[in-house]
Order: sequence, then C-alpha cells, then structure tokens
Amino acid sequence: MKRLLQIVSITLVIAMSMPTPASAADHDEQKAVLVTGASSGIGLAIAKKLAANGFYVYAGARKPADLEMLDAIGNISSVRLDVTRHEEIDAAVEFVKSQGRGLYGVVNNAGVAAYLPMNDVPEEDIDWVFDVNVYGPYRVNKAFAPMLIESGGRTTLIGSISGYLSGRYSGTYSMSKFATEAYTDAYAVEMADHSVHVSIIEPGGYKSRIREKVVQHTLDQMKDAGLEPTDEQKQQFDAMVASNEGLKEPDEVAEAALHVMTAEKPKRRYMVTPNLEQATLTISAALGKVAQLNRDQPYEFSRQQLIEMLDEALAAEY
Ligand SMILES: NC(=O)c1ccc[n+]([C@@H]2O[C@H](COP(=O)([O-])OP(=O)(O)OC[C@H]3O[C@@H](n4cnc5c(N)ncnc54)[C@H](OP(=O)(O)O)[C@@H]3O)[C@@H](O)[C@H]2O)c1
Repeated sequence: MKRLLQIVSITLVIAMSMPTPASAADHDEQKAVLVTGASSGIGLAIAKKLAANGFYVYAGARKPADLEMLDAIGNISSVRLDVTRHEEIDAAVEFVKSQGRGLYGVVNNAGVAAYLPMNDVPEEDIDWVFDVNVYGPYRVNKAFAPMLIESGGRTTLIGSISGYLSGRYSGTYSMSKFATEAYTDAYAVEMADHSVHVSIIEPGGYKSRIREKVVQHTLDQMKDAGLEPTDEQKQQFDAMVASNEGLKEPDEVAEAALHVMTAEKPKRRYMVTPNLEQATLTISAALGKVAQLNRDQPYEFSRQQLIEMLDEALAAEY
C-alpha cells in the first residue's frame, strides 16, 4: 500500500511539473480572451472560434454542466461568472490573473431578453434585462480594465440590430441594446487614451437559446400571475421557439469577434446579419432617424447637405 501511494504521488508530481514543450510554448504565446455567457448560442460559437484560432479562452458560464462542457474543449478554461454578481466578477479577475497569461481581450456576450408590451412588463424585468445586458458589460470591463490597459488589448460587446430597431414587444430588450450603443461610444474614446480598442458587434437573428428562454420566462411570469396563455399566445410562443430552427448558426458573428481580436485596426461597429432584409431594415431605421431629427427644425439641412454629411461619415476611419 505504502509503495502504491509512493508511485501515485511520484506520478502526480511528474505530471504536474513537466508540461509538454508545446503547452509551455502555447502558454507564453497565446493571447487570452474572456468571453461571458459562453454556455450556448453566440457566446459558445465565439469561444470555440477564438480557441481554434490561437487564443486561450476564459469562458464564462453559470451552471456546473456548462462549466464542465467548456473545460472539455481545447484551449478553453471555464470561469464561473454571473455578470450581475460582483463577487463572481472579482473572483474571475483573480482567477485570470493567477493563470499568468495576462488578458488581451473581453467579449461581453452574456444577454437576456424580455418580451412584453411596455404597459405590461414588470419593472423587475426591466431591471433584470439592464442588469445583465447593460450593467454586465460595464461591470466586467471595469473590473478587467487594468489588465486590458496593461496588454493594450481590446474589448467588445455583443449588441444587436435591436440597438437600432425597436417596436411592439421588443421595448425592454431594445432599450438595453440602445444603451449599449451609448456605452460603447463613451468607453471607446475613454479607453483609446489607454490604447485599448472598444467595439460592438450587432447581430441580426441567429440560432441560439435566447428565444426558448424568453418564452419560458414569459410563461413563468404568467403562471406566477395566475394566468393561462390563450390559444393565440400559445401559437405565438410555439412559433417563436420553432423559428429558431430555421435560423443560421452564429458563425458569422464569431468571425466578427475574431476580427475584433486580430485585425490591425478593428472597426467600432460590426453589423452582422444573416440576410439582406435585416441589413436593409437596420440601415433604413438608422437613416430614418436622421430624417426625423432633421425635419422641421430651425437648422434643417438640405438633401445636398445631408448627402455631403453622409459622404464624410462614409470616409471616416472608424
Ligand atoms: N441570437 C440572436 O439572434 C441574437 C441577435 C442579436 C444579439 N444577440 C445577443 O447575443 C448575446 C448572446 O445571446 P444568444 O442569442 O446566444 O442567447 P443564449 O443562447 O440564450 O445565450 C445567452 C448567454 O448569456 C448567459 N447569461 C444570461 N444571464 C447571465 C448572467 N446574469 N450572467 C452571465 N451570463 C448570463 C447565458 O447563460 P445561461 O445558459 O446560464 O443562462 C448564455 O450563456 C446576447 O447579448 C444577445 O442579446 C443575440
């Protein structure tokens, strides 16, 4: 027995103290990136894409099974990280520091949505969506800022074309995504002073678990309120969940995140839509607001002046 214990402990010491030459080299060369909300959908696709392209990924997740799943992927270490919990963010900072790779990038992907008319949505839901989608990136970026400044690195948010589009039932979600647009522009100029690049990726509709979660959340709320969904509502919910199946995998969004982390000059904004229709809707909405702003005000600009402004915007660097 004593001999067996000796052999086991010698084997363990050898295993711990002799990394393969390849892993020792990787450790020194790989840039590290933290991805929040990496358990599914866009976050998982981004974590895998970065890990397959030379980065070491710290993948944030909340559930034990997700942490285990992420740890089984090469070049990924899971990190328990609920972006609404300061103590988990602080522990994640300590963990990343302890790994000795520094931190080159952050992808603030964790996000949630609520889907009720503005007169019906409970205030707690608005708090919850903002807590994750808006305060989450603010907290995570702030906590990791010293490491990003040290590396002269990059941070990005997963916004949405809902940061430009808003309409029936999407008010709460769109409010949060509009807020991330404002945050990005302020943070980008502030962090440029420290040679850290800030950008935002605006996906259209891609396959993920967000739709089934919205439906489940709404059904739970209705149950708590003692309400049964009507047949019409049931059909709407079923259609929303089923629509996910027809969507594209979020590979293009992951490509954009890779561009953010590798390009010599990353862009400020990356709109990534699965089709022309969603791109048209988004750009038209942005231009539509310009027309609304301009109309019937003392300094109304002519069509020609607007075209000149558009030309200037098109020629701008970022
Ligand atoms: N899919 C689309 O069509 C689309 C379009 C535009 C923008 N987006 C944005 O893309 C991002 C990812 O969403 P998705 O579509 O990939 O949905 P998803 O599959 O539901 O993934 C959302 C991720 O966020 C995590 N999360 C939720 N609350 C969190 C919290 N408090 N702390 C940390 N992580 C949390 C989830 O973890 P759990 O598994 O533990 O809940 C999950 O990993 C979101 O910001 C979303 O708004 C999605």
